[in-house]
Amino acid sequence: ATADRGAFSGRSAFIFAAIGSAVGLGNIWRFPAVAYENGGGAFMIPYLVALMTAGIPLLFLDYAIGHRWRGSAPLAWRRVKRWTEFIGWWQVLICVVIAAYYALILAWAGDYIFFSLKQSWGDDAAAFFGEFTQAPAPEASGLTGQIIWPIFISIVVVWVAVLATMVLGVENGVAKTSMVFIPLLVVMFLVLVIRALFLPGALEGLDALFTPNWGALLNGQVWVAAYGQIFFSLSVAFGIMLTYASYLKKKSDLTGSGLVVGFANSGFEILAGIGVFAALGFMAQAQGVEVSEVVSDGVGLAFIAFPTIIGEAPGGALIGVLFFGSLVLAGFTSLISIVEVVISAVHDKFGTTRAAASVIVVVPLAIVSTLLFSTSQGLPILDTLDAFVNQYGIVAAALVSTIIFAWVLRGLPTLRDHLNHRGSFKVGTIWMLCVAIIDPIVLAVSVFFATKELLATGAPYGGYPGWFVGLLGWGMAAALIVVAIILSMLPWSQRSHLDKAD
Ligand code: PHE
Ligand code: NA
Repeated sequence: ATADRGAFSGRSAFIFAAIGSAVGLGNIWRFPAVAYENGGGAFMIPYLVALMTAGIPLLFLDYAIGHRWRGSAPLAWRRVKRWTEFIGWWQVLICVVIAAYYALILAWAGDYIFFSLKQSWGDDAAAFFGEFTQAPAPEASGLTGQIIWPIFISIVVVWVAVLATMVLGVENGVAKTSMVFIPLLVVMFLVLVIRALFLPGALEGLDALFTPNWGALLNGQVWVAAYGQIFFSLSVAFGIMLTYASYLKKKSDLTGSGLVVGFANSGFEILAGIGVFAALGFMAQAQGVEVSEVVSDGVGLAFIAFPTIIGEAPGGALIGVLFFGSLVLAGFTSLISIVEVVISAVHDKFGTTRAAASVIVVVPLAIVSTLLFSTSQGLPILDTLDAFVNQYGIVAAALVSTIIFAWVLRGLPTLRDHLNHRGSFKVGTIWMLCVAIIDPIVLAVSVFFATKELLATGAPYGGYPGWFVGLLGWGMAAALIVVAIILSMLPWSQRSHLDKAD
């Protein structure tokens, strides 16, 4: 590719950027609830098995492809084989969709930092969130609604910040941001966890999270949930880790860095579980109910349960600033990693300069994201896109790429040697067994369950109207595949050296 495609200055820049991508909303609002619902303390077993057999092995695979073929997702896959380029574009398009709605969550979190100072939600956080998002009843959903100004303004701020970061480039933009934000995030989150642990009822919350339900280990769905959490949480198969690895020097210890990223992400996840459940334990005690009655995940946890806790706890404003500030920091470093996949692909394919690619990608994405998500329809659209992209798009991409790589191309021995060349942790048969057999099986089972769930409920997903789910779910999925194939047929810029891996 062209000379200015970017590079990390060294190992720590890469590791911080990779941790910045991995540590995100999945750690803070997804992991605690998934662990709680799938066996509590006993969930640690499937979770660690999933980390060892899928998370880390697929992270190594992503790194190896990006580093061996030194390109954005489409370029690396194009160099692997002429016809596998579409996999790269599929990953790019998934990132486009995720980026568009991820910005909305960041915008909400940003607004809630201010709301925390005034505790604007009074004593009914759920009603406040409903008014804030003007979320309509599902039946009334259309694609466009009223613009909500506080959200509109913060989405614009988010996109301006993304543009400024991306124009600065891989090292000065992406890596430096993570090198500042991630340590800050860890400090803020630690203060939050310690504060939460001193709230009355905190220990009951921890009991609720960690009490093992060993019977859960016999439930297949619990194992699928563990693998799903690991895939999402480590951002594998999105093209992100692949793109980042392409910016590393040739002599790099990929496996050593991968282990650092994998364990740092899981460490943060468990820390978040402790903090969130300590706070939920307090909330349950304050309301005189069981912890099980206050558990929720995602949007409900962050924008309804936490505001309630903030309103009831002494020093609540501080808790609010720390919590929503953490969401903003963790979310921003993930958002830029998603956008980087797209910029890198445009840069490689069309030969535009890095700065031009940043503008070409971010400005239209920002406009669509703002128009689509700053309205009263933002929440239902986000909800539907997210369900399909995560349960489907990404799992299917991982399934297709592991099968093609391991079985059709039989490419694993090459990558094993590539990883071992400089890697401080050596991979061998066990790694290939995970990537070629265990992971495709788990991924296929996950696709099966997801399909069954999405098709068999009788009503369309989430109680939204059929046309809405058809358009944003199945329609979007089909469009992604078609557009990915078309993009993979367009000619490459003269400046991209398709056959040379550097
Ligand atoms: N890994 C991130 C998290 O745990 C989520 C994410 C998914 C980030 C996809 C980037 C891309 O929250
Ligand atoms: Na994560």
